[in-house]
Amino acid sequence: MTQPILSVRDLATSFFTRRGEVQAVRGVSFDVFPGEMLGLVGESGSGKSITCMSVLRLLKAGGRIKGGTASFEGTDLLSLDENALSELRGNRIGVIFQDPMTSLNPTLSVGEQVMEAILRHRKASRAEARARAIELFELVRIPSAATRLKSYPHEFSGGMRQRVMIAMALACDPKLLIADEPTTALDVTIQRQILSLLKDLQQRLGMSVILITHDLGVIAEVTDRVLVLYGGLVMETAPVRDLFARPAHPYT
Ligand SMILES: Nc1ncnc2c1ncn2[C@@H]1O[C@H](COP(=O)(O)OP(=O)(O)OP(=O)(O)O)[C@@H](O)[C@H]1O
Ligand SMILES: [Mg+2]
Repeated sequence: MTQPILSVRDLATSFFTRRGEVQAVRGVSFDVFPGEMLGLVGESGSGKSITCMSVLRLLKAGGRIKGGTASFEGTDLLSLDENALSELRGNRIGVIFQDPMTSLNPTLSVGEQVMEAILRHRKASRAEARARAIELFELVRIPSAATRLKSYPHEFSGGMRQRVMIAMALACDPKLLIADEPTTALDVTIQRQILSLLKDLQQRLGMSVILITHDLGVIAEVTDRVLVLYGGLVMETAPVRDLFARPAHPYT
């Protein structure tokens, strides 16, 4: 049988607030296999983002991983030292966050930001990084790539900004891409374009993708398998077709 690229077991994460402990993730286990797109669905607050942020160890203040393992290509991300982990993040594992407006730096050209993402993990000259940035813009279908590198985020539409975010996440050929609600801020037509772009990239580059969304229509269209979260627990995991044909859990 194929080995999973990411294997999460019994992940538990809590936030410690003045009002006490909030158990955001309560023993979540799942696998992501090479080349598949796994959908992570569930209502708001069900633990989708915190599950992924825990795996990447990017929790906000007050958040603490209480237990579990997250084995990526055989290495437990939860016990890895910080330097080795930041070497993996943005390199072997690409991430697209929920809000592209706050994730891009408004004072730097988009080209500069994509080049930075490349140079952070690769030994390359600026000319090589620039060439790679153009290649990435073409990959995510930003027209007139070479010219558009000089633009600033505010000169781009929401959809184009999201393409820049995807280009940055793909800068170092990740094996796994984690996309947290990559299209919620966009209108429906643009959402479709971005999703079909992600699907196309996943297939062409042979990456694994975890796609977080609460839109079941999106899930049906692009993912191979779905994990349903509810209250920090996994409700069910099933191939997309089965989930829609006969949902096992009432929440689904
Ligand atoms: N900074 C925080 N402080 C305290 N509790 C938090 C914090 N962030 C998240 N939580 C708790 O963790 C739970 C899961 O949050 P999470 O962000 O993973 O939800 P989500 O499924 O991604 O929701 P959404 O669809 O709204 O993005 C929340 O219900 C909340 O109780
Ligand atoms: Mg979220």
